[in-house]
Amino acid sequence: MSKANRCNPGIIVALVLAGTLSAPVLGADQNNTIPHLRKQGTATQLVVDGRPFLVLGGELHNSSSSSLEYMKPIWPKLADANLNTVLAVVSWELLEPEEGKFDFSLVDGLIRNARSHHLRLILLWFGSWKNGVSTYVPVWVKTDLNRFPRARDVNDKALDILSTSNAARDADARAFAALMRHIRKVDGQQHTVIMMQVENEVGVLGDSRDRCQRCHAANEAFGKPVPKELMDYLQKHKDSLLPDVCDAWQAAGFKTSGTWEEVFGSNKPHDKNWRKRSFFTDEIFMAWQYARYVNRIAEAGKAEYPLPMFVNAWLDQEGYPQPGEFPSGGPLAHVMDIWRAGAPQIDILSPDIYAPNFKERCEWYSRSGNPLFIPETRGDGRGAVNVFYAIGQHGAIGFSPFAIERIAEPNSEIARCYGVLSQIAPLILENQGKGMIAGVVLDANEPPQKLQLAGYTLEFKLARHWSFGAPEYAAAIVISLGPDEFLAAGRGLTISFSPNTPGPAIVGLATVEEGTFVDGRWVHGRRLNGDETLSGKGLRFFGGGYSIQRVKLYRYQ
Ligand code: DGJ
Repeated sequence: MSKANRCNPGIIVALVLAGTLSAPVLGADQNNTIPHLRKQGTATQLVVDGRPFLVLGGELHNSSSSSLEYMKPIWPKLADANLNTVLAVVSWELLEPEEGKFDFSLVDGLIRNARSHHLRLILLWFGSWKNGVSTYVPVWVKTDLNRFPRARDVNDKALDILSTSNAARDADARAFAALMRHIRKVDGQQHTVIMMQVENEVGVLGDSRDRCQRCHAANEAFGKPVPKELMDYLQKHKDSLLPDVCDAWQAAGFKTSGTWEEVFGSNKPHDKNWRKRSFFTDEIFMAWQYARYVNRIAEAGKAEYPLPMFVNAWLDQEGYPQPGEFPSGGPLAHVMDIWRAGAPQIDILSPDIYAPNFKERCEWYSRSGNPLFIPETRGDGRGAVNVFYAIGQHGAIGFSPFAIERIAEPNSEIARCYGVLSQIAPLILENQGKGMIAGVVLDANEPPQKLQLAGYTLEFKLARHWSFGAPEYAAAIVISLGPDEFLAAGRGLTISFSPNTPGPAIVGLATVEEGTFVDGRWVHGRRLNGDETLSGKGLRFFGGGYSIQRVKLYRYQ
């Protein structure tokens, strides 16, 4: 089959994303530049006050940030748990309780209180949709069904979901623009707010698409030709499209025009296997409708204050395989190309990862040059340590467990992970995207893992202790510091080294130091040897305690 007649087999293609890397008007990385995204090697970094920034974050429960009083005891708790960023909701219903009348007091209070605890903010715009439904829209929107029609299911039942109408889109965009204008006014110099999430987990729940008869963007548009902008995008990017959408397009004959079902095929019957998707054309159609709508909102916001903006996805998973069981049309990995085509103002497509296959989801969301940012995930013991994998292996911009106020106790796993990562963040950021970092997470039931780094193969095994047994899980991040020298941080595992370059075959440990970074300077603690280095065979991170170790290697035979 010639190249023009097949889809890209899913290899990672590093593209510079439209809209992603647009530096703000102020130019180079002076301290007064607006937070923005910048490419470093293969990584995309978030630049805040002229320096790359690693988001060690946490997302609050949905209602916490609606009361400044309620938040009072939470701020110090989060700062003590080593977070540097809080993800907090700003809702349309509280921002614009009456049409055209805005109340910024909550936003001002959040910014003021975050600042006084030396925390940054990522604000989550709960506008037209939150978890698919539209419960956060103001009452004047909720009750005006004529102006703001609801999505309808196959039985013409009204859903608690705004249809993607122009009226709702424009009203939402006006409110979001007002919010961004206000943030620029109160925070344009200090940059407490560093990114924005536009809407929350959009998509139709309860059916695979919106079937509202009187809504242009619903039934009517489904029967019409696929818009030219999308067809042009698909043809222009044909060689770098991901599977799924491309497979559907290919199976229908790579047509260059036609209705949605002509171009992507008819919807297929239900398949119980969540990895074999059906109702796929409906989902592609909804992804386009949501992407266009959200793009308009982001565009209106960026025109006022161009902070980086992302959307988040409620993922498909075992037991909920069909569009409509998860929000149909959300920015899921298999419709990333549609979102890229429809929403160039959105810089990052983010997964909310509660599913067990964390690593696979990170891989899917790192394709096509999409920067990895995880706004929601599990933050309990095993969930927290995934941060080492996301940052170490995928150059993630940041990590943020959900319900952070519940889990971020001073000695919690997430506090300890962030404690170590905040010390080495400057080193991570300096080396991101240059092939100098590896990250690992390992469960008790998993075999040892091997990774290549800086001329060596590193083998990671769970650290079994002769009298204390093995931990349930382990994690580490390793950074190459130069020839034959590594810094590793983590818990619960051993790391041994073998050479990948010509020369003597055996690797010895010249020196191993444990230490901490104080104000960016390495302060060594114990010199490690004996049991602590497997008698010279490798690094050892005992049980549940975290440490940072620096090793120099030599070779002999
Ligand atoms: C995902 C949503 O995005 C959050 O706002 C919250 O509702 C969590 N689910 C609850 O687990």
